[in-house]
Amino acid sequence: MRLQGKTVIVTGAARGVGRACALAFAREGADLALLDVCGDIDGVPYPLGTTSQLAHTAGLCREQGAAVLTAEADIRDRDALRAAVDGTVERFGRVDVLLNNAGIAAPSGRPAHEVTEDEWQVMIDINLTGAWRMTSVVAPLMLAQRSGSVINVASTAGLVGYRNFAGYAASKHGLIGLTKATALDYAPLKVRVNALCPGSIRDDGGAEGRMLSEIARSLGLPVAGHEETFVQSQPMNALIEPEDVAGAALWLASDESRQVTGSVLTVDGGFTAR
Ligand SMILES: NC(=O)c1ccc[n+]([C@@H]2O[C@H](COP(=O)([O-])OP(=O)(O)OC[C@H]3O[C@@H](n4cnc5c(N)ncnc54)[C@H](O)[C@@H]3O)[C@@H](O)[C@H]2O)c1
Repeated sequence: MRLQGKTVIVTGAARGVGRACALAFAREGADLALLDVCGDIDGVPYPLGTTSQLAHTAGLCREQGAAVLTAEADIRDRDALRAAVDGTVERFGRVDVLLNNAGIAAPSGRPAHEVTEDEWQVMIDINLTGAWRMTSVVAPLMLAQRSGSVINVASTAGLVGYRNFAGYAASKHGLIGLTKATALDYAPLKVRVNALCPGSIRDDGGAEGRMLSEIARSLGLPVAGHEETFVQSQPMNALIEPEDVAGAALWLASDESRQVTGSVLTVDGGFTAR
């Protein structure tokens, strides 16, 4: 019960990494506020999480004994985020951990000069500005209580470039910069900020994630059999599972990492070690 008595907010919790992390936090005794847009977004060329997927995540967490609040909110909408955080404080009294996980992989798949203004904006607004926006709503609470852990889910694309993914790579490199700068802003008041950089994560059936198949589609790869293509670039010959990311997030959320801030933790099977 490493998170007993702690309240955790997870963005992008309807499916995928967000669901796996929420479940791991629930198993360790956390109370949860689960947030997702639960609907499609103009300019994002694939379906995002749904209301029923968010309810399913919540149900799985409740089965572990967690108290769970859900909120449908777009990470681009400050008023909706504030309402969700206010609701969390009303219900649980505090916020100890924020997992900034909501993100999109596309529009992508073209060289940088062919990306339109709208495509660039939507990517940066969700993947980078969304994490800043959510942090700016939650951080004052953490600073007032002089404790807290913010975990930003970046990517190996925050450390190296990927062809035809300039917007995504820029957003995730920016998220690492945001992580380091806010870690220094908040360190004197014992609020920690760290980044996780997962490699290619399997679209696990149980978690219902679908980002890797969308990356394959953006790259023009056949979606059937895309896993094998990604495995070939993995030093450990395996894709990352959502639970691998959840294990690292759990450590960063817990007091076991109390001296860790401003760090960038890869969960990539050695991909960026080369
Ligand atoms: N899947 C991978 O291979 C991979 C690799 C590295 C990093 N990541 C990162 O992990 C995080 C989770 O990815 P995933 O694989 O679970 O993807 P996913 O598409 O399966 O899940 C993302 C969730 O975020 C939600 N979301 C998207 N935009 C939102 C918005 N504007 N407001 C609120 N919620 C929003 C979606 O509805 C969805 O439920 C992302 O930040 C992603 O960039 C994924």
